[in-house]
Amino acid sequence: MAEQYDLLIRGGVCLLPEGARAVDIGVRDGRIAAIGAPAGATAAEVIEAAHLHVLPGLIDAHVHLRDPGDATVESIPTGTQGALLGGITTVFDMPNTSPPIIDAERLAWKRQYVEGAAWCDIGLYVGATKGNIGELAALERGAGVCAIKVFAGSSTGDLLIEDDASLERVMRAGARRIAYHSEDEYRLRERRALFGVGDPHVSHMRWRDEECAFLGTRRLLALARKTGRPAHILHVSTAEELAYLPDFRDIATSEVLVNHLTQIAPECYESLGALAVMNPPIRDRRHFDAAWAAVNAGLVDCVGSDHAPHSLAAKARPWPDCPAGLPGVQTLLPVMLDHVAAGRLSLSRLVELLGAGPARVYGLRGKGALVVGNDADFTLVDLAARRRIEAAAMAAPCGWTPFDGKQVTGWPVMAILRGAVAMREDRLIGAPRGRLAAFTPR
Ligand code: DOR
Ligand code: ZN
Repeated sequence: MAEQYDLLIRGGVCLLPEGARAVDIGVRDGRIAAIGAPAGATAAEVIEAAHLHVLPGLIDAHVHLRDPGDATVESIPTGTQGALLGGITTVFDMPNTSPPIIDAERLAWKRQYVEGAAWCDIGLYVGATKGNIGELAALERGAGVCAIKVFAGSSTGDLLIEDDASLERVMRAGARRIAYHSEDEYRLRERRALFGVGDPHVSHMRWRDEECAFLGTRRLLALARKTGRPAHILHVSTAEELAYLPDFRDIATSEVLVNHLTQIAPECYESLGALAVMNPPIRDRRHFDAAWAAVNAGLVDCVGSDHAPHSLAAKARPWPDCPAGLPGVQTLLPVMLDHVAAGRLSLSRLVELLGAGPARVYGLRGKGALVVGNDADFTLVDLAARRRIEAAAMAAPCGWTPFDGKQVTGWPVMAILRGAVAMREDRLIGAPRGRLAAFTPR
C-alpha cells in the first residue's frame, strides 16, 4: 500500500537541520509526518517544488504590530498578512502598544483577539514596568507568551526600566529568558540636550551613539551574570557589544536586525532621511562589517526585522519629533535572500537565524526546523527570482518601506501554515488561521 498523506511537497531541495537534501515531505494532520516520503506516496494535495527550496516556516521574533493602537498604521490582521506575503509563518509581537500589554487582563484580551484576527501564528511579549514586577513570574508562564520584554532604554511608548536595582528585581522574578532593548537611559538623557531641534536626522545616531548601546549591554550582562537569569539582547548594533557578548554565551543570546545588515550611516540618512531613523540607530560601516562577521561566526542567534511602522505624517515631523522605527516584516526574507544571492551568508545560516535560532532562544515548541512531528509550516523560496520591492505591495497600512525600489534576487513564493497553503505567489489564501504559538518555559 502506498503511503497516504494530506499534503506532499515533492521535488524541492529541503533545508534540513543536517543540511540541504532533495527529499519529499509528507504532511498529516498539520504536522510533518515524513521527511523523505517514499516514491509512490499519494496525497490529497501535491505541491510540485522543483526548482524551489523548502525551508521551515520562518520566524520573525521581533515585530511591533501596533494592536491595540492605530490601525491606520498597522494592526494584527494587516501585520500578519504582511508576514505571510514575506514568507514568515510565525511572528512574536511586542508589547509597546497603546495601551501596552503589561497585565493579565490585557494579555487575556490580546490572546482571544489574535486567534481569529492573525493570519500567521503569533507569540506575545509582555512588557515589564516598575509597577508589574510582582506579576511577571505568572505572566511569563501564560499561554502564547514568548518572553518578558524590558525596555532598559526608552524608545517608542513609555515602557522603561532604567536602573540596576529595578532591573535586578525583574531578573529575580521568574525564570525564562528576558528580551532587552539595551541602550543606557542615563547616557541617552545626558546627550539628548547636545542636539538641537530641527537638526538633520544624522543627529539621531550621534545622540544614541555606540556608547549608549555598549553601556546598556554591559550593565545588563553583569546583572544577568549576577542573578543567573538568561538574557536575550535584541538588535545588537555595535562592534563593541559583538566583541563583548561571546564571554556571556552561557547566559546571553543575541539578535541582529536586517536593517543593520543592509543599511549604512550616514548614507542612509542622505537617501531616506527620517525613514532611516530607528532605535538603536543604523551605524557606520565598521559596525555593519562587525555584524556580518558575527553572523558568519555563529555568534548571533536570531535575525529579526523590528517591524515598527509609523505614519508618513509622523515621520515628516522634523527630528527629534519624528518617531523611530521602520516597517520590515514583509521585506525581512526577500532582503536576507538577496544577501544569500550576494554571497554574504549561506541559505543554511539564514534558516538557522530565522528558524532554529528563534525557536531555541524563546523555547518555541514544534517550529523552526524540518523534523518529523513539527508543525507543517513551510516557506518555499525561489532563489533565482529577480524582483523589485515596492511600497505599493506592502500590507501595512502605513504604506511605505525603506526598501522601496530595491531590486532583489530570491523571493518567497509560498507559505504553508500547519499543513495548509496560506500564501502563494504574492496572494493570501483563505482566512486568518493564526494561532498562539506554544512555548516550553524553562
Ligand atoms: O526604532 C524603534 N522602534 N525601536 C524601538 O525600540 C521601538 C520601535 C517602535 O515601537 O517604534
Ligand atoms: Zn523593537
